[in-house]
Amino acid sequence: MNKQGPDALKKAVERMLSEANTRMQAGKNLDAARSYKKAAQFAEQSIELLSDADERRAMTLRATEYKQRSRSLETTGRADLGRVKPSEMPADEIVYSDEDSDLQEQQILLLIDDTPRTIEWESIGGLLELKEELKFHYGLAMAKVPEGVDVEGWQNIMFYGPPGTGKTLLACAIANKLNATFFNVKASQIVSKWVGESGKLISTLYRLARKFTKDGRPSIIFIDEFDALCKSRGFEGQLYHQQMLAAILSEIDGFANKGQRNLVMTIGATNRPWDLDAAVLSRFERRILITLPDEAARADIFRIHLEGRGLAVDHRSLSYEKLAKMSDRLTGREVARLCKEVTARMLAEMNPEIPKLVDDGLRSIQSYEIKVRPLRHIDFDPFFCDLAPDTSIKDLQNYDQWGVKVKESVL
Ligand SMILES: Nc1ncnc2c1ncn2[C@@H]1O[C@H](COP(=O)(O)OP(=O)(O)O)[C@@H](O)[C@H]1O
Ligand SMILES: [Mg+2]
Repeated sequence: MNKQGPDALKKAVERMLSEANTRMQAGKNLDAARSYKKAAQFAEQSIELLSDADERRAMTLRATEYKQRSRSLETTGRADLGRVKPSEMPADEIVYSDEDSDLQEQQILLLIDDTPRTIEWESIGGLLELKEELKFHYGLAMAKVPEGVDVEGWQNIMFYGPPGTGKTLLACAIANKLNATFFNVKASQIVSKWVGESGKLISTLYRLARKFTKDGRPSIIFIDEFDALCKSRGFEGQLYHQQMLAAILSEIDGFANKGQRNLVMTIGATNRPWDLDAAVLSRFERRILITLPDEAARADIFRIHLEGRGLAVDHRSLSYEKLAKMSDRLTGREVARLCKEVTARMLAEMNPEIPKLVDDGLRSIQSYEIKVRPLRHIDFDPFFCDLAPDTSIKDLQNYDQWGVKVKESVL
């Protein structure tokens, strides 16, 4: 077995340890605590990939120890130094043939994102039918297939639609429910960071994603701003976009081994579907429009971002239905922002003494408990006066028209 996956993680642990040391020497204890925390995370991730029981045990010990150091630094400002020092790590455990690909693996590991753990289907307002459909098709992709029967669930899908409508949230919810390792890739960012190397980087990404499926857990590769890879040719940098795109497409194509479940799934997302060409689109089994929330969905989103966050609401004066009626054409993100602004104003009104307490010193602010009161409809009034939705009617038409056109050309 190729052991570069756990090796890269071990190397990442070492890197975080030496970072922690440097930071401690510079007296930056809180920063050092963060490095220890990361070291612990990498150590934990590597445990799953180690096949040798002794190695796993040793790594578990180390992870616990680094967590303790981190916590101790955070609370007492002192490192409760345990047994393992970076230099005690047997040198022969970290062997690399290729410095570059090692660095690439480390970059890829940094793309693993734990946010999905906090996103449930219930944290997403509206989109009821789509949620059921996603559960069904990802269920099909994971379930046992009877002998001789050839059925497939969704392996690769593309979300498109206006920004702020829940595309990322949906990808996170799927990953959470499937207990998947979530690789969060922003196309534009990785292409600019890895000029000239992007094709190779993508194959490293998919190779590691496959490796992480060893224990039956799927990997989800979420590629946001997919359009950034497909814009019209001609620029010099464009070449690299094309290389990266070609690599992604061949990965998507290449590993659907017949008769064997492929646990690496790709979810693309874009606000500019018209920048994607037919060759790209045909690789994705489904292209799914995530458009603006309707009235019922907006009511749901208001609830999620108010009571869903533990904020009290005065139901005699505030109705979610009424808020939903007044917020036509807002995206989920705009509704969330509105709730945040209203909450911020309520907090400012209820807690005017906070700046003074900060002046008085850490102890007095830490012993103060924030006051809240139930939100009322009038709290929203000032914000509804100058609502200017981010999404225009023309934008919406463009998405619809594109959807119709692509159905005709790709299917
Ligand atoms: N359907 C929704 N339900 C609840 N919150 C939403 C919804 N859509 C968007 N939001 C809010 O907007 C933010 C951005 O959503 P996101 O999924 O990143 O949008 P997109 O990926 O479509 O641009 C979310 O973090 C959330 O706070
Ligand atoms: Mg997004």
